[in-house]
Amino acid sequence: LPSYKDSLGNLYNYRECWYYPNTLQGVLNFERGFEPQKTDIILASYPKSGTTWLKALTIALFERLKNRSSDDLHPLQSHNPHGIVPVLEIGLYLKTSTPDLTRFSTPRVFSTHMPFHTLQLPLKDTPCKIVYVCRNVKDVLVSLWYFKCVQLQKKVDMEPLFESLCEGVGSCGPIWEHVLSYWRGCLEDPKQVLFMRYEEMKSEPCAQVKRLAEFLGCPFTEEEEEEGSVDKILELCSLRNLSGLEINKSGKNLNNLPYSAFFRKGEVGDFKNHLTPEMENKIDMIIQEKYKGSGLKF
Ligand code: A3P
Repeated sequence: LPSYKDSLGNLYNYRECWYYPNTLQGVLNFERGFEPQKTDIILASYPKSGTTWLKALTIALFERLKNRSSDDLHPLQSHNPHGIVPVLEIGLYLKTSTPDLTRFSTPRVFSTHMPFHTLQLPLKDTPCKIVYVCRNVKDVLVSLWYFKCVQLQKKVDMEPLFESLCEGVGSCGPIWEHVLSYWRGCLEDPKQVLFMRYEEMKSEPCAQVKRLAEFLGCPFTEEEEEEGSVDKILELCSLRNLSGLEINKSGKNLNNLPYSAFFRKGEVGDFKNHLTPEMENKIDMIIQEKYKGSGLKF
């Protein structure tokens, strides 16, 4: 397979997407072993595009349908969203093509960073619902950079990450192919793929969470709306609330990374504080060119 080396190791290109070896093994295991159910829900994203937020919202939307006593701790108060919704190729299928999925109740909710065409392979005969969240590439870059500094436990230069992102060789990249794969999937079948944008989730959270609920088949009732259920879910899933919870302040994920690394600023346009005008311009030119004719605009 074509390979590329970055500061975290070798990346390999498989089905037009770059992966670190572990993740690639997870992708292969997933392709070989995943048996979809038509009620499954898969939350898809390019890393650092708002996955944690989307997971929290989805968990909260389904959790509200359960008959819970007011004494019960909400799962989001005792678990990080990634602990509840595992990443298929990084969590469940990393080491085996036959993981034990019995702990999942219906609908099973999973997540992935695989592009649409790879994800679709095992879903061909049993399509299920996919929610994709995308984000401005420049903010993704900045968020990736901060995350990488946590992974490497030191402040690293942003330049190599910027260059590899522009060349399309980062983990799960090229980012534009990733986004376009789901964009096309959504154009082809909007009942199967919901395309969300981080920026819209920030600017019109109520409308977007209602849109998500509707797509997932659990729309808010009038009564719920009158009771302020939408706002309660948004508050529960807000960066401020989640990042302040003990589990997210002190817990770690499977790779020993602190959960706190998944909550930083959560703002739109933070790239302005980090990228030079030349860097901005280069990304803008690439994205404009890659998205040309797709109907996708930022
Ligand atoms: P920043 O680094 O720009 O702050 P992912 O979840 O895909 O790994 O993406 C992480 C990004 O989403 C980070 O962006 C993080 O701060 C932001 N984020 C995490 N939880 C969020 C939430 N509940 N609401 C809004 N943004 C959130």
